[in-house]
Amino acid sequence: MIYLYRPPSSYCNFCLFKRICCTFVTMSFQSEIVAWYLKNKRDLPWRGITDPYVIWLSEIILQQTRVEQGMPYFLKFLENFPHVRDFANAPEERVLKLWQGLGYYSRGRNMLHTARHVVSNYGGIFPSSYNELVKLKGIGNYTAAAISSFSSNESRAVVDGNVYRVLARYFGIEEPINSNAGIKQFANLAQELIADQQPSIYNQAIMEFGALQCKPKSPNCGVCPLQTTCYAYKNNKIDQLPIKLKKVKIRKRWFNYFVGITDGEILAKQRQPGDVWQHLYDFPLIETQEETPIVNAEFLLEIEKLFGKGLELRVLESRKHVLTHQIIYVQFFAIDNYIVNFNQHTDIKSVKIEAFKQLPHPKIIGDFIEKHID
Ligand code: ADE
Ligand code: SF4
Repeated sequence: MIYLYRPPSSYCNFCLFKRICCTFVTMSFQSEIVAWYLKNKRDLPWRGITDPYVIWLSEIILQQTRVEQGMPYFLKFLENFPHVRDFANAPEERVLKLWQGLGYYSRGRNMLHTARHVVSNYGGIFPSSYNELVKLKGIGNYTAAAISSFSSNESRAVVDGNVYRVLARYFGIEEPINSNAGIKQFANLAQELIADQQPSIYNQAIMEFGALQCKPKSPNCGVCPLQTTCYAYKNNKIDQLPIKLKKVKIRKRWFNYFVGITDGEILAKQRQPGDVWQHLYDFPLIETQEETPIVNAEFLLEIEKLFGKGLELRVLESRKHVLTHQIIYVQFFAIDNYIVNFNQHTDIKSVKIEAFKQLPHPKIIGDFIEKHID
């Protein structure tokens, strides 16, 4: 039941019965949206089309760019490939040439793959049911819902950025749109809302409403038919909704460890505060900014500064270590004939191997010791 999603502060102004009234309120949400759409919709070339292949063309292009920029691409693709067979017969260069300027070329390549797959496996008849569509490369929940609802009126709610925004604001949903719980909650609500609607019209209506009326910045609340019942408007939360979790940027680092063993002693280093693995013991380390620390002149110079010119060096193994906010690519080098100036590098010590093993280590170092050091 839809009223479960409605916070108590946002019950309809006209309702005396609160909860019971909510059925009426949410009914009016959909009919207001559809009425608004019929009055305000843009005249776009893919509107009203029911051929799933043509809808697929438009939706894949619109995933890549805005409506105004996507329109000429859509018309060009349709003119060049009026049927999915024409698309499937095209050489890849021709598809990529037509795609040129849209960026993210693997999408263009995926389209060709899908067109060929439809010709070989579906006899050239582009599927129109959600369950078949999601099996195709490059088609996710959103695209499958769009194609199946527009082409055959299957009752599948589209949930794109526009829909997230409209629902979050109107119903006051504070669950982040990119959390697992949020994705589920929005999908369930959207699916409940479409239940007694004409799927094709309603889906287009709510997306268009989000694109033109309930815009991300400065929505047109002043002339909005939902204003009196909109949670965000009443609670002054338009700028706060929808909520999106910030994805923490994963930092990539490259650690080059030098494992030096002489006369039963090993070079050890204690990690300092202010970085990962604080106070734990590892090996002398040079961190580089490169993806693969090629043994280039600059890197060699740094190594020589630490271990002297007579140094012999060989790669032992490489590993990847995944932490919450960083990925550390670790490379272990075995070193021989090294000289360390312990007065200058006071953080490095030469310790008995047995004693070193007893010290606390980061897991990746512990694993290395177990495997390589007797
Ligand atoms: N964005 C994605 N699909 C769209 C559609 N069918 N109409 C307008 N904008 C869209
Ligand atoms: Fe969106 Fe404003 Fe309308 Fe609420 S009142 S649905 S925030 S445009």
